[in-house]
Amino acid sequence: MIITIDGPAGSGKSTVAKLLADKLGFIHFNSGSLFRGITAYFLSQSANINHIDEEILKKIRISTRYDGKNQLIFVNSQNFSKHLRDEDVTKNAPIISAIPEIRKMIDACQRKFAEKNNVVIDGRDTGSHVFPDADIKFYLDCDVNERANRRFNEEKIKNPNISLDEVKQLIIKRDEFDKNKPISPLIVPDGAIIIDSSTLTPEQVVEKMIEHINL
Ligand code: DC
Repeated sequence: MIITIDGPAGSGKSTVAKLLADKLGFIHFNSGSLFRGITAYFLSQSANINHIDEEILKKIRISTRYDGKNQLIFVNSQNFSKHLRDEDVTKNAPIISAIPEIRKMIDACQRKFAEKNNVVIDGRDTGSHVFPDADIKFYLDCDVNERANRRFNEEKIKNPNISLDEVKQLIIKRDEFDKNKPISPLIVPDGAIIIDSSTLTPEQVVEKMIEHINL
């Protein structure tokens, strides 16, 4: 069974997807981790992120494994799971995620994984593009001010000088980018159930989702 959760950055997709997967006994699969894994690989190779050579692209092999607790990401047999949240990975992942060959590779990796497992997959194009025929598709929306508040509370621990307005402007810019990118833009997938998480806790979102899932 495949359950997808699409939605804008900061809407809480990953948190909710993990909770929902745990509740259902499914595996949580975060598609962003694959883009992050490949980005970490390129950085480890000191590759020029803005001009990835075709020959390097051809040699990339990405795979993922679930160790019973976490989703592990391997690129060319090397484990990059510990580097997925590195600052330079976060900064460069949008550039890498715009490369069509990389997207094809990652789409295939997700589909292969879902063939053998019951999964809750979250990302920006999981229900709209990668799994248009998923059993259940959710679109998790959230007001931009609330997303900025949530991000600000996380960010200020790492970066005490950051302001709420700066975080909000970054989110607005990110939304623009995601909605207007030529490949796999962020959209509400056909037939998706829209849930607005602005005033809900992750647990309340999961409760709402469960109402739509008949196992
Ligand atoms: O959701 P995230 O921040 O972990 O995603 C990491 C990067 O991958 C981010 O730049 C957006 C991109 N991404 C994407 O293009 N498509 C997806 N389905 C998931 C993530």
